[in-house]
Amino acid sequence: MSRILTGDRPTGALHLGHYFGTLANRVRLQHEGHEVFVVVADYQVITDRDEPGPLRDTVRELVRDYLAVGLDPDRTVVFPHSAVPALNQLLLPFLALVGKGELERNPTVKDEIRSAGRATVSGLMLTYPVHQAADILFCKGELVPVGKDQLPHLEVCRTIARRFNERYAPVFPLPDALLGEVPVLRGLDGRKMSKSLGNAIALSDPREVIAAKIRAARTDSARTITYEPDTRPDVANLLTIAGLCSGRTPADLADEIGAAGAAALKAHTIEAVDALLAPLRARRAAISDAEVSRVLKRGIATAREIADTTLAEVNAAMGMDVIAL
Ligand code: TRP
Repeated sequence: MSRILTGDRPTGALHLGHYFGTLANRVRLQHEGHEVFVVVADYQVITDRDEPGPLRDTVRELVRDYLAVGLDPDRTVVFPHSAVPALNQLLLPFLALVGKGELERNPTVKDEIRSAGRATVSGLMLTYPVHQAADILFCKGELVPVGKDQLPHLEVCRTIARRFNERYAPVFPLPDALLGEVPVLRGLDGRKMSKSLGNAIALSDPREVIAAKIRAARTDSARTITYEPDTRPDVANLLTIAGLCSGRTPADLADEIGAAGAAALKAHTIEAVDALLAPLRARRAAISDAEVSRVLKRGIATAREIADTTLAEVNAAMGMDVIAL
């Protein structure tokens, strides 16, 4: 059995990209008996903006998303990293293990800096991958279910673990990424499916919203539906989404829809997405506020205990444990 650690930024409702990228994996791993930790990365929200937004609500909605997709509240440890002081303290020794050049070369951070379009880059923006290493290593996470965009961060994490172990003492495992079925799902406008681009189908979207979004999605002028990702990316993306939701291959679906055209493809996609999301909506509706609080409270208590132990080990390895506390 492995310890699994993964996380999300609380910036809005989780969507299909998250579902197929990592959420489905988390649930599967939990059913296989692994220990699953989910960090709500609230400090990461302020990497590219001044205002964190309505975080209290966003975090609680995120917990509802987790429970709705089937994470078991009695086994999954869910916590916002801001609530776990010892986790954050790991950032200090970890920062000493990476160079400025390494931070500046991180391709995901570079993309985020570009799309944030701000005059200055904050220190947190450059160093959050190091903080993310603390998210993973505080509990000695071994497997990290993520999308492809997170691979550079996982490399930073492995580098930090390796350097710490070599310099001080073998405290940390070297965590491995676990890529989902579709590492990067495209949104309804052809760009990457993303909360901030407004092109995503949220897991909590009601049927009418799903239908409206899919009806408005781009297709092309060719009448017959075929699966040709290189030349017909918009049609291929709808086929991919419908296929993922219904457990069929896009090519197979294309054959079935064929001459019925784009309207039929969209109708099919709406049905497939709604069939996947309807049970999630039903589960979500049954989750009380008290249940969300209970899950968070327990998650934070467990995370604090583990983080305290790891920090003590780290301090001891570095010779900073001057007196036993
Ligand atoms: N950076 C991740 C994202 O934007 C979220 C995240 C924070 C994370 N801490 C993590 C993912 C630790 C995996 C492990 O999606």
